[in-house]
Amino acid sequence: MALTFLPLLVLSCLVGVITQYIYQRRKAQEDKAIANHHGCLPAPRLQNQRPWGVDRLEQIFRADAESRLMELFLFHFRQTGSTLEQKFLGTKAYGTIEPANLEAIMSTKFKIYLIIDRNLSTDRAGDGQQGRYVFLDAVAKSSADRAALRGQIINLLAAGRDTTACLLSWTFFLLVRHPQVLAKLREEITTVCGDSGELTRDVLKRLPYLQNVLKETLRLYPSVPVNTRTTVRTTVLPTGGGPDRKSPVLIPKGSAVAFSVYSMHRRPDLYGMDAELFRPERWDEDMPMHKDPTNAKWAYLPFHGGPRICLGMEFALAEAGYVVVRLLQRFPHIKLPQDEKVELVGVEQQVMTLVVSIKQGCRVEIR
Ligand code: HEM
Repeated sequence: MALTFLPLLVLSCLVGVITQYIYQRRKAQEDKAIANHHGCLPAPRLQNQRPWGVDRLEQIFRADAESRLMELFLFHFRQTGSTLEQKFLGTKAYGTIEPANLEAIMSTKFKIYLIIDRNLSTDRAGDGQQGRYVFLDAVAKSSADRAALRGQIINLLAAGRDTTACLLSWTFFLLVRHPQVLAKLREEITTVCGDSGELTRDVLKRLPYLQNVLKETLRLYPSVPVNTRTTVRTTVLPTGGGPDRKSPVLIPKGSAVAFSVYSMHRRPDLYGMDAELFRPERWDEDMPMHKDPTNAKWAYLPFHGGPRICLGMEFALAEAGYVVVRLLQRFPHIKLPQDEKVELVGVEQQVMTLVVSIKQGCRVEIR
């Protein structure tokens, strides 16, 4: 019995391998035709020191353990240029911090893998606890559809909470380390709002320096610092390939393309030689990125762009602006505690989850 089964098994394995081979070959030929048509050239490769790119994984784990992942990514892009290719465990992946490529990624048909089906059993709808407002139950009253409920929860919790919390923490982290900026901001608030009074969206709009402070904080510490998209079909990034790094780059179907707005926001050729410094005034000046219309539109992306741009952008900026003003009005003395460590911007330890937060927290002295 076992003997008659064995040849069948071998035969079906063989058919499987041959079919895969033919499929991969055809796919490679199709990709090559697309690459030729667009004049694609490979992006610079991040070199592996050990087989299978194990060293890359080691680097990532080590940087994560030292809370310095963003520094590592920044270093990779400085080594290769704004678009790179890397290979580990036999799989190619791509990375980019080039505005034109980000435009292509965010405006075209890339599929996002984001949502995990957990924590929501089918009988969860309507299961409220007495006297407690449970957002999920409230939404479930209008729809018991699991996908819709999951979407609502993800939208509000994942999208709206940590992102805004990080913006506020980094804002105060930077303000107490830059007392002259804090003083200028206080002055603007006192001039426009006095010590209290109504604080509407219209009043917030009349605080341009406050807007610059938030903008500059989100430039240096975009709440979502790194993200990826996976191609649903073979496509092309407009730039980054070849010796001059200006040729299009072929991205085969199923590839991951990572992009780091954190690293892009620190590019001196886009923001000036002092790109690493916290200087809200830069937003009133002419920056290098303004020389090119694509860069002007796609080099600053704390909320990303295109059809999946953050839906809470205006709300988040109003919320953060409101909290900053009210805290400054309520506490006339906010400063750096004497024993607090001061490091260069970007060198402090950070925690990376979906968002980037301050490892040691944001300590301030208030009176
Ligand atoms: C400073 C605060 C915030 C930042 C920096 C931020 C940033 C972002 C980014 C980068 C994305 C795109 C994620 C992706 O495409 O993978 C996003 C998506 C989203 N954000 Fe925000 N966000 C903030 C606050 C908020 C708030 C307060 C809300 C809602 C109350 C919100 C709602 C959303 C929603 C619904 C999406 C998904 C949009 C879609 O996929 O169509 N965000 N946000």
